[in-house]
Amino acid sequence: MNREIVKGVYYVGVDDHHTVLFENLWALPHGVSYNSYLIVDDKIALIECVKEPWADEWIGNIREVVDPAKIDYIIMNHMEPDHTGALPHIAKLAENATMIYTPKASDMQKSFYDVRLREKTVTDLEELSLGKRTLKFLHTQFLHWPETMMTYDMQDHILFSCDAFGSFGALNGNHFDDEIDMRMVESESRRYLSVIITSYLKFIQQAIAKVTGLGIDLKMVAPSHGPVYRRDPTWIINRYSEWSSPDLEKGCTIIYGTMYGFTQRVAMTLKRELENLSVPVKIHNLSYSDMSKVVTDSLRAGVIAIGTPTYDAYPFPRVWAFVDEMEGKRFAKRPIGLFGTFGWGGGGVKRLKDKFEDLKFEVLEPTIDVHGRPTSQELEDCKRLAETIAAKVRL
Ligand code: FEO
Repeated sequence: MNREIVKGVYYVGVDDHHTVLFENLWALPHGVSYNSYLIVDDKIALIECVKEPWADEWIGNIREVVDPAKIDYIIMNHMEPDHTGALPHIAKLAENATMIYTPKASDMQKSFYDVRLREKTVTDLEELSLGKRTLKFLHTQFLHWPETMMTYDMQDHILFSCDAFGSFGALNGNHFDDEIDMRMVESESRRYLSVIITSYLKFIQQAIAKVTGLGIDLKMVAPSHGPVYRRDPTWIINRYSEWSSPDLEKGCTIIYGTMYGFTQRVAMTLKRELENLSVPVKIHNLSYSDMSKVVTDSLRAGVIAIGTPTYDAYPFPRVWAFVDEMEGKRFAKRPIGLFGTFGWGGGGVKRLKDKFEDLKFEVLEPTIDVHGRPTSQELEDCKRLAETIAAKVRL
């Protein structure tokens, strides 16, 4: 079903309630939307396609407004297949359309789909007239890939912002920020940013500066996932600015694995000692917490404390996987607390310490490495580690 969001501009996107893991990695408990917009002017422009399995529903939404054969431009802000998978389907119907994207996107399009419609690559800040309305293209590399751009409607001051300012969560017909449950949007947009755009946080800050630098009175932010912001378009921009800020939060997130409960006992003692010192604490058992929540709650934590049992002389596999995420997502350097337990030879905590020192993180003293069950001395060490963490958090 389409919906006119301002006169002559239609939402023609779709909800996905079927995909379990976005990118086959990140949980989608509320689904996700693939937003696409149709502008009807003297020329007809389609902004963004959708993921391939939703091609029929999407084309049905377009047909409610115009015959797809009349589309003049297919504007692709980003080539990731959740935005472009259905391109070959619309290309068969819109044979006279011209594809609009950045030069890098042109190369990707040919390697992904090799659709042979006419194409036009656009430079940064280039404009395209549709008749009464003019669009301006803003290159915003690494939001989320290097070829990405935003499209700005200069007449109605709508920013089609692509992945930036997006959110997980299907819309269920509630397309606007004044219709949808904004508590869900706040938590799902932060989780989305934290797992999808984490590696590129500085580019969020750059894009916000670029948009602000246009000196426009932005009326609407229309991302490619999540709601359209019309009541307060600055709300999501401010949240993204805050969540991508290099300033870390004054708290500690404890992330741990445990097999039989010994490491968990240390984790819980450390939590209690930190709370006694009024340090805000979040805690995740990696065997039960979804990795997207773990990444979200640790991305901006002032200190991360990581606990592991030794497993085959290495850290617990799920702990190793989290450390891989920290490295791959280029977590900002910050103090790290380490603790763990082992049954005979050990090695888990030591390998974590070596890894974080290689990555140039500061490893806090004491590291706690317990043979068997934690003794009163080792639980006392939790108090010392908590004091060190508290001092770092308060800096
Ligand atoms: Fe919505 Fe980078 O894909």
